[in-house]
Parts: sequence; structure tokens; C-alpha cells
Amino acid sequence: MEKIYITTAIPYLNGLPHAGHAMDYYLADVCSRYQKMLGNIVRFQAGTDEHGNKIYQKAKELNIPVKDYVDANAQKFKDFIKKLDVEYTDFVRTTDTEHEKKVQEIWLKLKDHIYLARYAGWYCTGCERYVTEKEYKENNGICPDHQKPYEKLEEENYYLRISDFKEQIREAILSKRMLILPEFREKEILKLLDESPDVSISRPKEQLTWGVPVPDDDSQVMYVWIDALANYITVLGFPEKDISDFWPAYAQFVGKDILRFHAIIWPAMLLALGLELPRTLVSHGMILSNGQKMSKSIGNVIDPIEVLDKHGTEAFRYFFLRHVDTFSDSDFTWEKFEDSYNNELANDLGNLVQRLATLCFKNNFELKDLPESELPKEYTELMDKFEFSRAFDFVWEKVQGINRKIDEDKPWSLAKEGKLTELNQVLSSEVMDLLEAAKLLSPFLPETAERIAQVFSGKIEPPKEPLFPKTK
Ligand code: MSP
Repeated sequence: MEKIYITTAIPYLNGLPHAGHAMDYYLADVCSRYQKMLGNIVRFQAGTDEHGNKIYQKAKELNIPVKDYVDANAQKFKDFIKKLDVEYTDFVRTTDTEHEKKVQEIWLKLKDHIYLARYAGWYCTGCERYVTEKEYKENNGICPDHQKPYEKLEEENYYLRISDFKEQIREAILSKRMLILPEFREKEILKLLDESPDVSISRPKEQLTWGVPVPDDDSQVMYVWIDALANYITVLGFPEKDISDFWPAYAQFVGKDILRFHAIIWPAMLLALGLELPRTLVSHGMILSNGQKMSKSIGNVIDPIEVLDKHGTEAFRYFFLRHVDTFSDSDFTWEKFEDSYNNELANDLGNLVQRLATLCFKNNFELKDLPESELPKEYTELMDKFEFSRAFDFVWEKVQGINRKIDEDKPWSLAKEGKLTELNQVLSSEVMDLLEAAKLLSPFLPETAERIAQVFSGKIEPPKEPLFPKTK
């Protein structure tokens, strides 16, 4: 039995949860449920990133005290995660007093690698980072993610000396001690690491009021990323507590847009603190809407609550875990969503359960005992490599295989012909296959897997309401 720590990126609170945010939670949740199925103990962090100018300005715009604003939005994210049926164990808010205190202690521990300097450069408030002159030119002065012009900033900041750790980070990436997934991102990160200047980690108080004050210097406030990244360890109790039970993290889930912070600044912070690097950084693709990243600033956000309310949590999980490739970008359209619901969930799975349960019911069939089965190697290999959408495909092929098997076995003909031994054999093998598929399905669609297990244990009766009623 291992102790496994899984983390998710903590969203900014300058807007409501959108469908894109679900990706981190879902991938982490599949990982967590799978690890628990293997018998491991899982700690699963989620939280909210509550400091910084974007949030401060938004609250100002709405004329709400900023603390009230973040309190309300943090609650919305908690409700959202609950609605997604995601089993996190720890929730951290960067405005928690405990977190703020710990971040200040962390800052003091980083001191040997921090210096003060004056800097002039281009900044994007959307990304909350400076961009290099080269990036500025390549993007013609406009941030491609936020569609906003970069701002010219000149100010005194504290810097984290990334150069102290470049070699160690490079070595950790190349030796796969800190595995970056998908692996094709490795090259890009190594290049960014090479080019990475030291990172500004504070801003003058006049420029950033809503943040954690830098200890021993009243004039500066911590840069949001230092504060935010630290959440992964403050929530475990660092620096007061020994966190070696759960740290290093088994997997940290982030979107590809923020992989650079997790693959460069974060490891530098960890190395400066004398902590191990995470085992794996899993970076997923973006959910697009009309071909563009879904984002509050662009205004093409899909309201997840609408999707959840229409077809329920399991249909939402199904679409995002199977039809959104784990590692590349995918476009969300209602048409694709409805098609996958009707053709796959309703037809392939819902009908299968109904059909097989009806056959069992009519023929008075009950499964006597279910032999313990091993998880198939193909499945565990994909799950261990975090290839979740492909593992889900594998399970779905099994589901479709059972449908084909029933068509071939024709249990209804066996019943008509009175071939009862054969009938029992085929029903038994089909039900066992379905229960096995349900087990493999459980990290993805936990409620559905549970319902299937219930329907086919003891006296079998078809569900009164099919699992996924068709909508067209
Ligand atoms: N606050 C930072 C993260 C700090 S982690 C120490 C941040 N917040 S965010 O709200 O912009 O994004 C939160 C997570 O949601 C990130 O992993 C991000 O990649 C993900 N997504 C945001 N929009 C997304 C899509 N449209 N599609 C998929 N994931 C998206 O970055």
C-alpha cells in the first residue's frame, strides 16, 4: 500500500467555473479513484488562487469588498467540484491565514536565492508574468491567450535566482525523475528553461495590494505565482510539518498553458527548500470553444452547470474523459456532446444494461459467485501512463464487445429452444464481462459502475428507468 499525493491547479477567482476547469479535476479524480482501486491511500488537493490584480480589479469593478468577492467565488468552485463528483480530500485557499503564514515562512527559507533588482519589461496581467522581448515581438505586442496588449512595467522586484537550479532541473527532466507528460512537451520546456531569466517574485505594494506581504520588506508584496505554487505543500503542513508521507507528489495535473510555471519556477522553489521534485507533471490540452481556448477574457465560455443540469454528472464525465483527448486540445460543441450521449452512453451502455438485465430477469438467471479478476494489463499500462482517454476507449471496446457477443450468442433463441445449460453459460459469461467492464469503468463513471454492480448482483431486474434515457 502506497501513499499517493495528487494535485490540481488552483483556479483564479476572477470569474465563475467554466467547463475548461473541469479537466484538472476530472483527470486527477480518475487517477485518485484508480489508485484507490489498487489499494493505495490517496490525498487529493484542490483549491483556489485568490490574490493578484486581476481579482482585485474585478471586485472593484463589481463594487464588492474583495474578501467578500473571493469568499463567494471560492464557494462556487467548491460547489462546482462537488457537482462534478470529484473526491478531493484537501481544499486550500490562498487567502487562508494559515496558508499566508506558511508562504511567508517559505519566502524566508528561499532567502539565499533571492535578490532585489530594478527591471523594465513587458507584462501580461492575464498570465501574471513578464514576457521576454522575443515573445513580445513574436506576438506583435498582444498576448495570444488573453488578446490584450502587454503593459510596459518598470519597477523594483525581488528575483528568484533560477540560474542556481537550471542544471538540477534539466537533469531531473532528462532522467525522468520529474516526468513531464506528454513527453513531447519536454523539449519545449528544456528550451524555456535554457532561456529562462531569473524570475520576478514580488511587486511594489503600490502596484499590487492584494497579496501576501513580503516578510521584512513593507514595500513589496509577493508575486501571485510564488504564493499559488506554494499551496501544494502548505496544504500538507509545510514548513512546520514533516510532509515526507505524501511528498513528493505522485502526479500534479495542470493545463498546458501553465506547465512552464510548474516545470521551472516550482522545481526551483522546491530545490531551494530542499524538497524532492514531483514524480510527474501531467499537462492536459485545452477545451476549445469555437476553435479558441475557453476563457473569461475572450467570452466564449461554456457554462458547465447547463451541461450538468441537462444530462447529469456522468454524461459530463463521459464526454470530458473520453472525447476530450487527455493531452491535446479538443473543441467542445453541443452537437458532439449530444451525439456521444445518444449513440454511446444511451445506445452502447444504457441499452446493454437494460437488454441483458431483461434477459436475466425473464430467464430467472442469477450470478452465483463472481470470481476475483485481475485488471487487464493493457488497461493498467494505459492508466499508469496517464493515458486516460485511451484507457477509457479500451473499456468502451469491451462494452461494445459484450453487445456483439449477445447478438452472436442469441440467448433468446437458446431460451426458446429450451437449451438451458447453454443459456446459463452465455448469460453467466456476458454478465461477468459486464461486471468486469463496470469495474474498469469505475474511475471514469463511478455512479454508473455502482449501478451496474447493483443491477447484476442478487436477483436481477432491469432498471425501471434506463441508465441514460435517450434525448432524440
Ligand atoms: N491560478 C492559476 C493556477 C495556479 S496553480 C498553482 C491559473 N488559473 S486558471 O483559472 O487560469 O486555470 C486553472 C486551471 O484550469 C489550469 O490548469 C488551466 O490550464 C485550466 N484551464 C483553464 N481554461 C481551460 C480550458 N479552456 N481548457 C482546459 N483547461 C483549462 O492558471
